[in-house]
Amino acid sequence: MDWNIFEDNSWLMSFGERAALEGILSLIRPSLAVEVGSWMGGGLERTALYADEVHSFDLVVPDRPSVLNDPKVTLHTGDSHVLLAPWLAEQARDERVVDYILIDGDHSAEGAAKDIGEVLSSTAFSGVMLIHDTFNPEVRAGVELVRPEQFPYVRYVDLDFVTGILIRRPGEAQNEMWGGLGLIVVDRFDQLGQITSGALEGAGPWQDKSYDVFGFVKPVRDLLQRSAAAA
Ligand SMILES: C[S@@+](CC[C@H](N)C(=O)[O-])C[C@H]1O[C@@H](n2cnc3c(N)ncnc32)[C@H](O)[C@@H]1O
Repeated sequence: MDWNIFEDNSWLMSFGERAALEGILSLIRPSLAVEVGSWMGGGLERTALYADEVHSFDLVVPDRPSVLNDPKVTLHTGDSHVLLAPWLAEQARDERVVDYILIDGDHSAEGAAKDIGEVLSSTAFSGVMLIHDTFNPEVRAGVELVRPEQFPYVRYVDLDFVTGILIRRPGEAQNEMWGGLGLIVVDRFDQLGQITSGALEGAGPWQDKSYDVFGFVKPVRDLLQRSAAAA
């Protein structure tokens, strides 16, 4: 049995996020996968298990020998804001389709919006986009800036596909909101059929069944941060 996703290793995702990623990957078995923000390569290693080909964009080179030596993995080392759009244009020219992408690179609102917007507007993308840290206010603002609903092939948007956390443990990120996986499904070629989730009863692609957990937690975060500053 493969317990790798529960090892306490250098993979910056919660167990729930890892399991969701694993579930999506095992269902899709992507032919052409992309990861923006691989850091040490924890998620990249798992993606390479399921995909025929994976392209990773990061400022740093992952340190895992398994990904460094995997012929299925291509590392694009540098700024995604410079490298991603021309790479996507090349795939579109070659009529290739990226069917899975994880966005976990630049966590500023503008940076996340740029990465996400470039992918959604590329004709080379049709499939599942996961966005890590959608529970973080900056990243979430980035997705909202893009307005995914304006792209005609976007079928489903849920920023709390996996809900994130408000960090309790003392340390650098105490009282900050991090984690969470957002899901955007793009079906450019009408291949997916009906998305029948009960979450999808509204007019647009946004999940609107549940209250916005993020909106409930943020005032608590603000209160905790104010009390900590006053102490
Ligand atoms: C939170 S880490 C990614 C974690 C990784 N996905 C995991 O689960 O372990 C964010 C990564 O994004 C990279 N990054 C930040 N800004 C970037 C940019 N503009 N272009 C490419 N990579 C960037 C950082 O170097 C870092 O490795």
